[in-house]
This record gives sequence, C-alpha cells and structure tokens, in this order.
Amino acid sequence: MMYKLGLIGHPIGHSLSPWIHQQFLDLAELDGEYKLYEGDRYALPGVLKHLKEIGIDGFNVTVPYKQVIVDYLDEIDSDAEILSAVNTVVNIDGKWKGYSTDGEGYVRSLIEPYPNLLNRETSVLVLGAGGAARGIYRALIGQGVDTIDIANRSQDKAKDLLSLRLGEVKSRVLSYQQAEEHLAEYDLIVQTTSVGMKPNVEDQVIQLDNIRNDAVVSDIVYQPIMTQLLRDASKRGANIHHGHAMLLYQGQLAFEKWTGKNLAVAHLVDKLENKLR
Ligand code: ATR
Repeated sequence: MMYKLGLIGHPIGHSLSPWIHQQFLDLAELDGEYKLYEGDRYALPGVLKHLKEIGIDGFNVTVPYKQVIVDYLDEIDSDAEILSAVNTVVNIDGKWKGYSTDGEGYVRSLIEPYPNLLNRETSVLVLGAGGAARGIYRALIGQGVDTIDIANRSQDKAKDLLSLRLGEVKSRVLSYQQAEEHLAEYDLIVQTTSVGMKPNVEDQVIQLDNIRNDAVVSDIVYQPIMTQLLRDASKRGANIHHGHAMLLYQGQLAFEKWTGKNLAVAHLVDKLENKLR
C-alpha cells in the first residue's frame, strides 16, 4: 500500500514535517508520500475536498486551521475535544477522526532523555498559557506529577487554563516575577510561549537566577535550537531539553496513528538538529 499523508496550514513552505515523515517511512520500510497542502483560510474547504477525493490516509493540521478543522471531522478524540485543537487527522474507513498529539508528543520527547524526571513528586512550572501550554499541561497531568504551576503575562488566560479542569493536580497561577522568585521549587520548567523565537533571539521570558542545577529547562521554541533561555539554563549548570525533539515525537505519534508503526526515533533528534542549523 502507498500511504498518502500530508500537512494543511498556512504558511507551511518551510515545514520540516515532509522531511520528518520521509525519515519515518524509510525507517518503517513503507511506501508513501507526505505532501504540503498550502492554503489560506478561504481555500480550506477546497483543500479538504481534494484530500477526501484522493482518499488521504492521514494528515497533520497546523496554524491557522487547528480549531476550524473540527467542523470537517466525523469524530474527535476526547483529549482533542477538551483542548479544542486538532493537529492530526486519521482516515478510518473513510471517516476522519481528529487527535491532538502535541502534549503526548512533548512528554515522549522529554521522557526519552530524562526517563526518571516525571513522577509523583515532580513540580513543574509551565511558562505560557496558550494552545501549546494546554496540551502539555494535560499530558503532564497524565504522567501523575505533583504540581503544575502556570506563569503567564495575562493572568486571566492562565486562570482560563486552570478552569478547564484538565485533571487532578496542584496548580497555581503566577506572574513571571513570582515564577522567578519561586524557581528553586521546580524540577522542570517548560517554556511554551513564542518569546525567544527567531528573529527575537535575545528575548527571554524569565530570568533563571534561582534555578536549581538538577532542574530541567525545556523550551518548545526550536528556531533557534539554542534559545536565550536554554543558554542561560546551560550556563547555570541546569539540564536542557530542546523544542525540535517535541516536533519529532509529535510526528512519531501521528505516524503511529496513521500506520500502526511505533518507531524508535531517538537517533533522529540529532539529525533533525543538523537540518535546523
Ligand atoms: P500557542 O498555540 O503557540 O501556545 P497562543 O495560543 O497564541 O500560541 O499562546 C501564546 C502564548 O505566548 C501565550 O501564553 C502568550 O501570553 P499572553 O497569554 O499573555 O498573551 C505568550 N506570549 C506571546 N508573546 C509574548 C510576549 N511578547 N511576552 C510574553 N508572553 C508572550
């Protein structure tokens, strides 16, 4: 069988997903293609009609369609529904089912290098309260951690995230200043905002003066690979985790849903890093 896969979004010209999924197809020794279906918001119905017609086996969904895609699905996974965002669609006997693989992909990418990090005693600080933070928050709860505090510029948005009641965990809403003051409490700090992303590579959402050197600082920004925040963490002797690993593992999870193949992809993290340099 020839897997027909792809990505819808706008703009997606620089997406690494075709490269990533070609690696996966090769690893799995499967025949297939992963194409970019670029469109603007108005073209979406046309693009989706085309994907139906060619009988696409599965596709990823990115900005700005992660929410609007829900209207075109036959079914939606309960997690994706709670998060009201879909980034992966699977064709199951002609019916389209939507999933969100961001959060679980993130957790997989983190557990690979830090297998003992997430447990009943782990305290996490999430920086940011947007869509990415939501998925990560949900997936971290699934790992049974003790505490997940949320720091965000807009306190209301952080409170909204907590009011979704995504699961049982201790949580507080903090300002960035409070987060800086409490920093020594955390085993893991996850940066989910766009702060520090190219071209604003000098920006750093909080200062890390109080960080413990056994903590892990994780930044989901992958352009650049080494953000200012990660540089700072590294300088202070803390552990770091790069954003491109999440990109790889959310792809791995999508690929698993499309093909049933659960691939070992750890060796591709460095290869992807080289692509990004
Ligand atoms: P995503 O889906 O990538 O998470 P989003 O839902 O738009 O994107 O969320 C963006 C996040 O980045 C939010 O937490 C936002 O903070 P606010 O809720 O206060 O707006 C944060 N963010 C973006 N630009 C920022 C900036 N310049 N300073 C601080 N936080 C910023």
